[in-house]
Amino acid sequence: MLFGVKDLSIIIPTYNERENVGQLIEMLIDSLKGLNFEIIVVDDNSPDGTGEFVEQLSKEIGNIRVIHRPGKLGLSSAILDGVNLAEGYAIGVIDADLQHPPQTLREMYAKILEGYDIVVASRYVEGGGVEGWSFIRRVISKGALFLAHLLLKRCRSVKDPLSGFFMFRKDVIEGVKFEAKGYKILLEFLEKGRYSRVIEVPYVFKSRKAGKSKMRLNEILNYVKLLMRLSEYRVLKFVTVGLSGVIVNLGSLWLLVTFYNFPELYSAILSIELSIINNFILNDFWTFKDRRSGNFFYRLIKFHGSALGPLINYLVYALLLLFGVNYLVADAIGIVCGFVANYMFSEFIVWR
Ligand code: GDD
Ligand code: MN
Repeated sequence: MLFGVKDLSIIIPTYNERENVGQLIEMLIDSLKGLNFEIIVVDDNSPDGTGEFVEQLSKEIGNIRVIHRPGKLGLSSAILDGVNLAEGYAIGVIDADLQHPPQTLREMYAKILEGYDIVVASRYVEGGGVEGWSFIRRVISKGALFLAHLLLKRCRSVKDPLSGFFMFRKDVIEGVKFEAKGYKILLEFLEKGRYSRVIEVPYVFKSRKAGKSKMRLNEILNYVKLLMRLSEYRVLKFVTVGLSGVIVNLGSLWLLVTFYNFPELYSAILSIELSIINNFILNDFWTFKDRRSGNFFYRLIKFHGSALGPLINYLVYALLLLFGVNYLVADAIGIVCGFVANYMFSEFIVWR
């Protein structure tokens, strides 16, 4: 025993994992020999009797506790309930279904002892990976990862912030309020936690041998909501500003042509410039108000690089036409690409 009441608390969230959890606990006990650890299983009244099964086990083995919750309340909140009870200096979270290899926990704990605040078992660092994922699941996972890195700043240094397998010291999250909806609690820890040193250790995400994944389509929705809240709706503000720019562009063009008799060809140049200035000011005082640094006019000049968006829109459109894609579909994809490019330009260059 080094620092706390226990060296390590292992939290295992379970919902219908009766066939897996016994074997996992056996493997845990085996791989954590020599440490003063406890196991906390958080069960949501699993219909398959996982809760009673672990309750029984806890009578035979000393350091297991079970939290019984009344019904399926979600993975993230299960983890937080477990954390509340944990007495360990370090707290590890691992899935019950044997997709996370318990052997990795030792290495993770060693990193905590080295002084890291959060240790992420990672699929996306050298030596890590996934076993038996379909192309579609890979694409969804990478897409989700891209969005997290695009929208949230603090998680950018971590290659697998969506991992469900990680370890941390309790003080990293003490006193912090979490949404705890959905699956991705680590992402919230990374965005809101008090920490300075994070490290990743590789692991291979195994395919499930028994039972079923509880991941449902609405978890995608939960994830998008979480991203929005954690990013304080920045991307929605950016879209709103963009739309206001369209109105400024069209409105000023109309005014110039009908009331000032400006030539149509030149009026457009002026109204484009007006819409760029409009968007810049709104983004500077609203969307990215927390990121203003350096000279206002220098940022304004840089922001003109947003012309990149329409250019990319057009290039993607032209390219897709070459491949025989329908022109409306091609343009829709072009618009999305142009938008992402513009957002990235603002996020990473204008308001770094
Ligand atoms: N108590 C409780 N309540 N446990 C739950 C709930 C719930 O509502 N939903 C899921 N679990 C438990 C499962 O029983 C399992 O032990 C673990 O949480 C993970 O659930 P899975 O349904 O197997 O998730 P997955 O395999 O699709 O995804 C996992 O791996 C990904 C990659 O590391 C999760 O850990 C993801 O968060 C992770 O990104
Ligand atoms: Mn799983």
